[in-house]
Amino acid sequence: MILDAAARTAESEDGMVERRCAGEPLEHVVGWAAFGGLRIAVGPGVFVPRRRTEFLLEQALRVGRDAGVVVDLCCGAGPLAAALAVRLPRAELHGADIDPVQTAYARRNLALFADRATVHEGDLYDALPAVLRGRVELLVANAPYVPRAALATLPTEARDHEPVLSLDGGADGLAVQRRLAEGVVEWLAPGGRLLVETSARQAPLTRGMFAGAGLDAWVVECEEREASVVVARRAAA
Ligand SMILES: C[S@@+](CC[C@H](N)C(=O)[O-])C[C@H]1O[C@@H](n2cnc3c(N)ncnc32)[C@H](O)[C@@H]1O
Repeated sequence: MILDAAARTAESEDGMVERRCAGEPLEHVVGWAAFGGLRIAVGPGVFVPRRRTEFLLEQALRVGRDAGVVVDLCCGAGPLAAALAVRLPRAELHGADIDPVQTAYARRNLALFADRATVHEGDLYDALPAVLRGRVELLVANAPYVPRAALATLPTEARDHEPVLSLDGGADGLAVQRRLAEGVVEWLAPGGRLLVETSARQAPLTRGMFAGAGLDAWVVECEEREASVVVARRAAA
């Protein structure tokens, strides 16, 4: 039915069914993924936003509803940034990702908010304008966290159709998060919050890295969505 509806506006239904049968994610075939009540544009080469990440969104809104400066690092197609832009109508938003395919989609998904949302390209914090140092009130990151050895066990839709860079968290799955933790204090405003998606198994280690960086850090979980998020807070000045 979704293919049927999408085929009316895009390529022929036969072509779409063929791509789907060949194993392409449904979202790539139809060109969008549902996230936080929005339709996020996605396509070949782009990480498909997961419903589990809506838990991170909900937690970010719990602790950061007053945030004026919001950063989504490792933004992919920008689902978190776009959903936060809708819900925080006065916030200035910055998304950043290292992969130009992701940032192209993120720009598209944030186009409606062009007056207050900017997408940057580069490696983690290097992508951000220096003027944000010490000013970020809410930082969200769904960075890659799959241990390299587990990549082979992922469903083929992910393995064959999403960039390895969007999944590979290094030997222990924590390589990107470790670098996030190393730089975080420099970028968060006093009292600023950071939220990072992780797995239930990795959560204590992720929490430990942000606590080690000097933040108050705790884990929140949603069993139903198999979602784990580390929430951390920089002390107020
Ligand atoms: C798991 S995907 C999540 C994408 C998006 N946040 C979401 O929830 O749909 C991880 C993203 O991190 C990006 N990434 C990986 N390494 C990065 C790095 N060193 N600096 C910035 N982005 C990176 C990938 O390109 C990918 O878009």
